Amino acid sequence: MDNRFQSIRGFNDIFFPESYKLQSIEDTAVRYFNLYNFREIRTPLLEKTDLFVRSIGTSTDIVEKEMYTFEDSGGESLSLRPEGTASAVRAYLEHSIDKQDPVQKWFYRGPMFRHERPQKGRFRQFYQAGCESLGIADPFIDVEIIKLADTIINALPVRGITIRINSIGCPECRPGYIKVLKSYLGTIKESLCDDCKRRIDTNPLRVLDCKKQGCIAATANAPKTTDYLCGDCSAHFNTVKTGLDGLRLSFLTDPRLVRGLDYYSRTVFEFTAEDAGAQNAVLAGGRYDYLVELFGGTHTPAIGFAMGIERIAGLIDMPSTQGPDVFIIPLTEESKQKALAIALLLRRGGRTCETGFGEKTLKSMMRRADKLQSFSVAIIGNDELKEGYVTLKRLSDGHQEKIKDADIVNAVQSIKA
Ligand code: HAM
Repeated sequence: MDNRFQSIRGFNDIFFPESYKLQSIEDTAVRYFNLYNFREIRTPLLEKTDLFVRSIGTSTDIVEKEMYTFEDSGGESLSLRPEGTASAVRAYLEHSIDKQDPVQKWFYRGPMFRHERPQKGRFRQFYQAGCESLGIADPFIDVEIIKLADTIINALPVRGITIRINSIGCPECRPGYIKVLKSYLGTIKESLCDDCKRRIDTNPLRVLDCKKQGCIAATANAPKTTDYLCGDCSAHFNTVKTGLDGLRLSFLTDPRLVRGLDYYSRTVFEFTAEDAGAQNAVLAGGRYDYLVELFGGTHTPAIGFAMGIERIAGLIDMPSTQGPDVFIIPLTEESKQKALAIALLLRRGGRTCETGFGEKTLKSMMRRADKLQSFSVAIIGNDELKEGYVTLKRLSDGHQEKIKDADIVNAVQSIKA
């Protein structure tokens, strides 16, 4: 009987160099989050189920079908986080941060969990890097946030991305739109999937977010959110568009873009990769001016986005990886202590190195150095030990020098130059 364990479907082990690629994407995002003066928050992976139900919405795909929910031994319903915004807002209120300074700029990165059908670009555990700007209603914040997203995407670099934006209004104007949408959907009900038929009554806006081809075709002429915005929402949206134009950022106004989570209001946006198939949203976000209020706080406008790290990884080439600068070869038992000291010197000097402790012979250590694509080897035998030097050899051309121990960092630098 085979008693080896296997990972759960949709939960992946990620090895080098793929892990290095994901790390590079996250590092790039974090670099720009910092430049834009966002500060990191780390929130738990597990939260009370109700936190997500109330913010994301009961009749959304995430809450209806995709949450990993269980009862703990105390009978409390808990869920693995499917996204990061709800936790950020919970933390904002729980720690009374709104009272100290309502304007906060936060970023986060880490795994999210959704029980979706795994396919290319869709996993059950996936990684997001995201940011949230709380406390400011000015549409120029929307412009700045969309520009931040665009800067990260371009720095990676990901090409062939379309920025889609829309405005879905506010509690003032959305009910009027929903009424018109509902009666329109009633006329095309028979062409909709079963989920969407049900949603005409429970959450009609979600019908526009359905990814099924039949529903997309059937709703092609649905009324547009932007035709029903109130004066304030309309002015807000116009300023966002003018601000993006002013930055020469090209975007599409997409009347179908309503997002799959209920907490949004006004500006919503998505970055899509045109040739990435069905799972083509690599980054998405929007305003959620009423979520803090919904959680019991005072009115606090907010906006943010999250990017799907694996989806972006699928669009970029593997960054080139290099072997260590030096592979250290201790030829005798006695030279191992010195090998360690030289390794420490190199690492302190910012040089990557590897030690040959696992191998027994010069030949096997040279083979290992080659396999690791090491730039050079530092050989330490009895002479080197006695006389305080190492033999440094560049592997590309065999160039070899005796280097005094204390000079090793500079010597590696000069043979690499
Ligand atoms: P979201 O659209 O649900 O928004 O997810 C953001 C991004 O996460 C998606 O565009 C996609 O790239 C990635 N993603 C989502 N599901 C999966 C999956 N199953 N597998 C791989 N990647 C996935 C949010 O999560 C909001 N919290 C964003 C936000 C922040 N809005 C305001 N602030």
